[in-house]
Amino acid sequence: TELPIEERTDYLPYPRKFEIARENLEICAKMGSVKFGFVEKGYLSMADPKSQIECKTRLPVAIKSTKRSFDVELQTMLFEELKIMCAIEKHPNVISLIGAVTTNMRKGEIYLVTEYADSGDFLNYLQKRKDIFHNGLFDDQQKTESTRFLPSGDNLSTLDLISFALQIANGMKFLATVPCVHRDLAARNVLITSSKICRIADFRLARRYADKNYYRIKNGKQIALPIPWMAPEALETLKFTEKNDVWSYGITLYEIFTLGGQPYPHVQTEDIKAFLKSGKRNEQPEYCHYDVCSTFLIINELKFDCSAEHLFEKNMLLARIDEQL
Ligand code: ADE
Repeated sequence: TELPIEERTDYLPYPRKFEIARENLEICAKMGSVKFGFVEKGYLSMADPKSQIECKTRLPVAIKSTKRSFDVELQTMLFEELKIMCAIEKHPNVISLIGAVTTNMRKGEIYLVTEYADSGDFLNYLQKRKDIFHNGLFDDQQKTESTRFLPSGDNLSTLDLISFALQIANGMKFLATVPCVHRDLAARNVLITSSKICRIADFRLARRYADKNYYRIKNGKQIALPIPWMAPEALETLKFTEKNDVWSYGITLYEIFTLGGQPYPHVQTEDIKAFLKSGKRNEQPEYCHYDVCSTFLIINELKFDCSAEHLFEKNMLLARIDEQL
């Protein structure tokens, strides 16, 4: 079988068509900083394809770089992430690569430029909306059939949560066809736009030592793992397959339907493995009532643009069940 792309980064090409001239990149505000790099908001100036005369548009972008810390390992990681993103086609639920600046790579400068998700990180998005969340399938004010499923500004209802769940399933299904094993699916690694489109981001298992969710294990080398999002067999073997991504997807569903709650809130990270081994699991989230399941079927019948089939990704889910038997 074909190895997932993130296991053959040595052989992946960096196609020249992705190269951006540094002078077309305007770097503005810092959005986030992690132990191994930066993410900044910026703009890419580019020729307007619709214009006859020479005219430039400024496209909002997110820029990942390592420039202020010359570190070969960090740079290699970012370049590998870049090559993985080059190999992944565009999909509405996966953050897509716009290009990169690699000309000064030997001097420690590399910029990875992706599309900008204007509502930022999904975990924070959920947590910030706890107060305005409406726990019901339909808005109180009557909507017509045709507007019922349109995203509606700054409110949040159970229907939105279902839509997020379907969108992330859709993006993961697409990544599995590449094939690309994400290894770190969690709400914090999903981005969201103001029109409520979820985009999966962060294709490298990021090594966030500072984050309490990443527990260090000594195994020859030190590695950081997203323990609460990992399947029991992945905790056992430390090997990841697309089936482990399905488990992480389940934990992500828990995050969605608790509006950004912590998985296993009463279990210490180092006790999670034993907790799962004894057959215990996360509790049913408060906002995930039984209606949710029947709604998937309703949505499917209405031919809403995500189908329930995407959520219950047949082959992968069956493979998981198979493994448990
Ligand atoms: N990475 C971190 N924040 C981002 C954002 N808002 N859009 C795209 N990528 C990001």
